[in-house]
Amino acid sequence: MDKLIAVTGSTGAIGGATARILAASGLALRLPVRDLGRAPALPGATAAECSYADRSAAVTALEGVHTLFMVSASESKDRVEQHLTFVDAASEAGVQHIVYTSFFGAAPDATFTLGRDHWATEEHIRRSGIAYTFLRNNLYLDVLQHFADDDGVIRGPAGNGRLAAVARADVVQVAAVVLRDAAAHAGNTYELTGPTALTLAEAAAIISQETGREVTYRAESVGEAYGSRQHFGAPDWQLDAWVSTYTAIAEGGLARTTTTVQDLTGQPALDLAQVLHGDR
Ligand SMILES: NC(=O)c1ccc[n+]([C@@H]2O[C@H](COP(=O)([O-])OP(=O)(O)OC[C@H]3O[C@@H](n4cnc5c(N)ncnc54)[C@H](OP(=O)(O)O)[C@@H]3O)[C@@H](O)[C@H]2O)c1
Repeated sequence: MDKLIAVTGSTGAIGGATARILAASGLALRLPVRDLGRAPALPGATAAECSYADRSAAVTALEGVHTLFMVSASESKDRVEQHLTFVDAASEAGVQHIVYTSFFGAAPDATFTLGRDHWATEEHIRRSGIAYTFLRNNLYLDVLQHFADDDGVIRGPAGNGRLAAVARADVVQVAAVVLRDAAAHAGNTYELTGPTALTLAEAAAIISQETGREVTYRAESVGEAYGSRQHFGAPDWQLDAWVSTYTAIAEGGLARTTTTVQDLTGQPALDLAQVLHGDR
């Protein structure tokens, strides 16, 4: 009998597409979801209700699971605590392998502040003794067009820095490859990027060309970036995350391209124009 795989985040983009691919290839799945009513109906899949913060529900949801695909939770002030609770639940439930969606350059002092959350989660998984595989994803190519404001301006302190963003579809393909044979990828940290590193001005030009919406990039200073986001009334941790997305690009920390997508899936990584066309 196949080892049972749990896929979290199946009501969302990455987890949902990964679960569909695995279910289509006949694998048995457990789908831990926050709301049973929104769990996708997939052949061979059973949903179980739990959030990352609810340890006892998570232990029940993960009973009998061999390999866990843990999709990082939506950003929140206490996301790290939620992640650590879920990893502890996985340990208690006897999970043997965790595949976690981390972030490119995750480190305790990462410029992109959310990269620090991912590092803390990775560390907890490493310390748990459970076998692991980390997918350190660059920013998603899919979200770049949404960086533009109502006036079609992507504004932020990214200077002329470059960004090797990756398609969600490629993250999903890599996840499916790893989850099908997790033992072959145990202990590995994969850095997932797109095929090219673009400046935000170049990305804006491609978005304009492919979508027909005029999008431009305007470099801000760090002070201007905090100022132009004040009207959202967001808490400090979120403002820091938003602004540091751009300062991380300015510093070059997100510019390196890797061949990991091609190496693991056998297909070249999608570029921004292909993502905007909906290729694959
Ligand atoms: N690299 C990037 O550019 C980038 C950009 C955005 C986000 N991300 C990260 O990548 C993750 C996956 O991306 P995505 O596009 O698939 O996001 P998505 O479509 O928003 O899906 C997120 C999934 O995670 C679930 N979830 C969120 N918080 C949870 C929690 N506390 N406990 C349990 N489940 C939780 C959601 O469940 P519900 O349906 O119940 O909400 C949903 O199924 C995101 O959650 C975020 O951490 C990365």
